[in-house]
Order: sequence, then C-alpha cells, then structure tokens
Amino acid sequence: MGELKSKGSSVVKDQLKIFSGNSNRALALEICEHLQLELSPLSISRFSNDNLFVKIEENVRERDVFVVQSFSEPVSEHIMELLIILDALRSASARRITAVIPYYSYARSDKKDAPRISITGRLIADLLRTAGADRVLTMDLHADQVHGFFSIPVDHLTAIPTIADHFKAHYDLSNLIAVATDAGGAKRAGRFAERLNIPLAIIDKRRVSDTQVEQGRVIGEVKGRDVVIFEDEISTGGTLLTTENTLRQADVRKLYAGAVHPVLCGPAIERLQSSGFESFVVSNTVDMPPQKRLPNIQVLTVAPLLAMAIQRINSGESVGQLFR
Ligand code: R5P
Repeated sequence: MGELKSKGSSVVKDQLKIFSGNSNRALALEICEHLQLELSPLSISRFSNDNLFVKIEENVRERDVFVVQSFSEPVSEHIMELLIILDALRSASARRITAVIPYYSYARSDKKDAPRISITGRLIADLLRTAGADRVLTMDLHADQVHGFFSIPVDHLTAIPTIADHFKAHYDLSNLIAVATDAGGAKRAGRFAERLNIPLAIIDKRRVSDTQVEQGRVIGEVKGRDVVIFEDEISTGGTLLTTENTLRQADVRKLYAGAVHPVLCGPAIERLQSSGFESFVVSNTVDMPPQKRLPNIQVLTVAPLLAMAIQRINSGESVGQLFR
C-alpha cells in the first residue's frame, strides 16, 4: 500500500477511526489493515422487544470517523443498524462522520415509474443525513444520477478498473467482446470495454417482473466471440441466464461474467451453478458466505481502493484521481 503514503499526507492515527456494522465486517477489517489501524469497537445488541441498541465503545470526541456498512441482506436490519450507529457517533461528539456504503442497494429505487410509490433511494439518502452522516463514500451506484439524491458530499468510487485489470491479467482478450445486458448498462459496460480495449455489444432487454426478464436481439457482432457480460450487480441471476440464452442463440463461444456487487439473492446460486458460464468475477462490496462461494466465482477486493479514499478524505487530499 505504498500509494497510501502519498506526498504531504499520512493518516493521523489518533484522529481517524473506522467502525463497522454487521453487514461486511471482513471488508472493514481489511480496510483497517491497509490503513494500519485497529477496527474501533462498538456493540450492537437487541432489547427483548426486538429494538436495536448500539454502544460506541471508545471515545470519538472531535475524531474523523468512518462507518462501513453495505446494504446487503437483511437490508432493513443493516440500514437501521447504520442509522443508529451514525446517531450514536453524533451524540458522542465525533467531528465528522462518513458513512462508507460499498453497496447502496436502494439505488435501484431511483424513479417514480408507477403511481403511489416511494423513490426509496432518495429517502435513504435523507435518513442518512438526518441520522448524522456528514459525507458518504460509496461504489458503483446502479445509476450515476443517484449521487444527486444526497444533499451531503458523496464520493462515488468504481470497481470497474479492478475487475477489468483482472481480466487483462488472466484472460485471453484477443477474441473477447464485452456485452451490456441492456441499454441502461451500456455506459458501464462501455467503460469496462474501453479499459480492456475490446469491442462492446448491447442486448435489447425488457424486465417483465422483479425476477423475470425477456430478451430481444443483440446489437453488435458476437458470433464466434468469447463474451464477457458486465453488470453492476448479480442479484437473482435472472439477467445473466436470459442473456446467456440470447448469446448462445447468437453462436458465441466462451461466456464470462463480471459484476461489482455479488448480491446473489433468492435462486441466484442455483442459477449460476446450472449456467454455462466459465467464470464470474465480482468484488467484495457484499460479503459472501461460504455456501455462496462457487469454485468459479472469483472475488476481488476493493479494500485498497476504499482505504485510499478514506486516507485522502481524512487528510484533505483530492479523491478525484481514484474515480478514473
Ligand atoms: C439491472 O438493471 C441491473 O443492472 C442488473 O442487470 C440487475 O440488477 C441484475 O439483477 P438479476 O440478477 O436479478 O437479474
């Protein structure tokens, strides 16, 4: 982690504190390792009436505090934990509080596309601020514009270079083409393809329900090519499966998938197991329990990137360089 010691800055250890909720403690510990800090203690317990109770177990007065929590299953529980931690830190007189949310699941609820519904991505942004967050550090939001839901500063990082560089180092790129599963994901997959200097194709996809998607045609030349589908997240795995069918009909050769957030909920693991993908490359923004760790899922760590961003936020250096 030489980069962490960039010119003119260093972590002022006594001033910087990292806490973690229960959603992805492994990632928080890894971030601490990169920053050469101990994870700060807090306890989360439950009253007999099911109410959560949080206690910050060390002094945070006038400290620059970061709380790592992903919105993974159980999502509501993890959001509530984070809100209470933020409130407890504020009451304990922390100088600045940054919510580090590697996976912000509610970014998917980003528009009012049916009557009488909530734009929950915006609601959660408001709740974070109300609870005490001064800033947010997050990664690969479902749509870039969700950034605008926040009225506090947001640093929006991406794991695209991390995943692309893995493909560059370990895969044969000579016959590889990147595929976006729908027009909405074309920009993201395009950035991935650009980093690898490979072409891009787009699938005409339509979602018919929360768990089912129907596919149309492939826009681009995929016949006889090895294909890497690039996504922000693998949730139920439905999109990957229908995309696989479409691409098989278009006579592709090998199939790979890359995605930032391995949400892997519902039937995802069975679907990935039954699919014909050679491999899946994801990051550790969402913690993956052992039963989800299929042999052909490669998990890359985003801890160095988050640690670098935390160090720069703490020392007042530009984080912009990390966005590229
Ligand atoms: C959709 O717009 C997203 O980019 C992903 O394609 C989607 O979240 C994946 O969900 P699932 O795995 O449930 O199809």
